[in-house]
Amino acid sequence: MINEVYEVIHARRDVRGQFTGAPIPAEVLDRVLAAAHAAPSVGLSQPWDFILVRDSALRAEFHRHVQQERDVFAATLDGEEARRFGTIKIDGVLESTLSVVVTYDPDRGSPAVLGRHAIADAGLYSVCLAIQNLWLAATAEGLGVGWVSFYREPFVRDLLRIPAGVRPVAWLCLGPVTHLEQVPDLERHGWRQRRPWRAAVHRDRWEPAGH
Ligand SMILES: Cc1cc2nc3c(=O)[nH]c(=O)nc-3n(C[C@H](O)[C@H](O)[C@H](O)COP(=O)(O)O)c2cc1C
Repeated sequence: MINEVYEVIHARRDVRGQFTGAPIPAEVLDRVLAAAHAAPSVGLSQPWDFILVRDSALRAEFHRHVQQERDVFAATLDGEEARRFGTIKIDGVLESTLSVVVTYDPDRGSPAVLGRHAIADAGLYSVCLAIQNLWLAATAEGLGVGWVSFYREPFVRDLLRIPAGVRPVAWLCLGPVTHLEQVPDLERHGWRQRRPWRAAVHRDRWEPAGH
């Protein structure tokens, strides 16, 4: 059991290019969503919702917006960085089986959200934990997940008729994959290297890090 948890944690990848588009059995999707909903949340507020987007017209419209935002980011790059970014796929919106848009409702359980009075972002942290649960459960089920953040929140809110005040936090592409890569895409494309975990650990004070 313990070994399997670690295996899934280390096997998880952000997927853009390996989606097959094959269907997901209803009971598998139910398990993945139930796992997401089992996440911890500040004050038991469970401030998340999951919008399952299957409509291909909606996904195509979102994808066009993502392409525009890709161009916006690309325009900030020069030389070698620009060339590298040009080779990197940043979404699998059209190829994946469906999208799951995860939202955050700051009003859920408010005003007395136990534990959020000092840290407003604790609600948002809770949504991210639901996303990570979804990601790991999907990995355990042999599915891939790709988080797409190349969008403007008002665009997604309008597109999916999300109520004012509710924030879209993640557009996730979900579905069966040919395989999961062993190395993250950004590392494979020479964009950025992972930092060794020991370098992230500090003892008693911020400095020195590592051993
Ligand atoms: C908040 C967040 C936003 C992300 N947005 C994107 C994105 O827009 N496009 C993309 O290709 N990957 C996106 N990613 C995936 C990261 O690039 C990826 O997690 C990282 O490179 C490490 O790779 P791994 O997840 O395969 O370990 C995002 C990840 C997170 C956590």
